[in-house]
Amino acid sequence: MMRGIKSLMPRTIASRLRRYLCEPEKELTADEVVRHFHELFYSRTESTWNDTYWMGTRILKNPFDLWIYQEIIFSTRPDIIVECGTRHGGSALYFAHLCDLLGHGRIVSIDIEPDTSRPVHPRITYHIGSSLSEDVLKEVERAAGGYRTMVSLDSDHRQSHVLSEMRAYGRYVSLGCYMVVEDTNLNGNPVLPQFGPGPHEAVEQFLRESHEFEDDPRCERLLFTFHPRGFLRRVAQSLDMRPRPSPGHR
Ligand SMILES: C[S@@+](CC[C@H](N)C(=O)[O-])C[C@H]1O[C@@H](n2cnc3c(N)ncnc32)[C@H](O)[C@@H]1O
Repeated sequence: MMRGIKSLMPRTIASRLRRYLCEPEKELTADEVVRHFHELFYSRTESTWNDTYWMGTRILKNPFDLWIYQEIIFSTRPDIIVECGTRHGGSALYFAHLCDLLGHGRIVSIDIEPDTSRPVHPRITYHIGSSLSEDVLKEVERAAGGYRTMVSLDSDHRQSHVLSEMRAYGRYVSLGCYMVVEDTNLNGNPVLPQFGPGPHEAVEQFLRESHEFEDDPRCERLLFTFHPRGFLRRVAQSLDMRPRPSPGHR
């Protein structure tokens, strides 16, 4: 039996499980079970999050998180969803199809790399450039300023970049809407302990400097997420950041 388990799992997980099997009286806690599953799911890249499709387009997310996005978009009904990090376009298409079902909303998706094979959809506008470049930020201001906006940050995952994105894009997030900071599971939370400071550390720093966002533990109630403490809801809005009189939905 152990040979079978070993061939399926990374060595660290297999050895922890072996220890558990040798001491059956020592039960795994729920948190340990979730952590082991998270590590296993993440490490099996080629059959899990790197081989997942939305309507035929690759999407680099886990299905639990996609479900939470669906709940957020349904309950907050943003006019504009700004996404940093398009890659294949699967997530932009997923958001666009949810907006189709709601009959409402548009997607602005940004990536530094051009890719002509990304899906075409009337609700999606792609912008090519760094999410922090002046040109891209001007486009975002044009598209999102004054509208009910949510943001998904899934581009360069280094702490300094994510923190700069949070500072630059957080202002567009409307009261009650979300800024989802993706992949806060990196740097040992619990995966890739060698990654270095990333989204998790950026969120910690951002929440220390801004009291206008709170992480929403309800978004983690399905137990397994790549974005622990990454679902940030805007709970306050300083005067200077209030949207201009809204032209309503479109
Ligand atoms: C994890 S992938 C995005 C995955 C996509 N959101 C999904 O769920 O399928 C990250 C993307 O961010 C892009 N990227 C990296 N640095 C960037 C930057 N400074 N500005 C914008 N995009 C960037 C990469 O080219 C890559 O396509």
